[in-house]
Amino acid sequence: MNTYKPILTSIALFLLIPLFYACGGEESSDRQTSQPEVEEAGLSDFELEHGIGPVTEPVEIGEIDPDLVTKGRNIYEMKCEMCHNYQGRMVGPELGNVLERRSPEFVMNFILNPGGMTRDHPVGQELLREYMTVMPFQNVQRDEARAIVEYLRFYYEENY
Ligand code: HEC
Repeated sequence: MNTYKPILTSIALFLLIPLFYACGGEESSDRQTSQPEVEEAGLSDFELEHGIGPVTEPVEIGEIDPDLVTKGRNIYEMKCEMCHNYQGRMVGPELGNVLERRSPEFVMNFILNPGGMTRDHPVGQELLREYMTVMPFQNVQRDEARAIVEYLRFYYEENY
């Protein structure tokens, strides 16, 4: 009988291993849900809401400017459409309704500083975890980013 004991013990241990893994998995997912709180430390309220980048103050938003819309649409079609759908995810998130979830300043900072946003901002970090591609900086100037926002405002008004 005794000769079987080590075998039985190893079988018992073997069966226990998945249990340990299961517990470990739960622990780390707990850690993930509390992670943003830690990562948010050090960002100002403005940065939390409007992103990290060259836009550090509220941007003036008035009536939709048709010239700015045309300028924004051209850049958008050239530099953004290959990765973003208006509706439904592609390489990146859908953008037709992005101004429902983000402020114009946030969108501009994402365009102007995508690397910083995915590295240092809790929303960017979360998006990177989900999409697993870092959006590249598309060599867009600040006034062009503003024009893209105008185009996205126009698109949203027309389609939602
Ligand atoms: C090579 C693919 C690619 C290109 C080109 C690209 N993006 Fe992105 N974009 C992404 C990905 C992927 C994400 C999700 C965040 C991440 O993983 O970097 C993203 C995220 C975003 C977000 C944040 C969306 C949200 O829900 O908060 C905005 C805004 C955005 N992109 C706008 C643009 C605009 C405007 C352009 C054109 C100037 C552009 N992107 C070009 C891939 C791309």
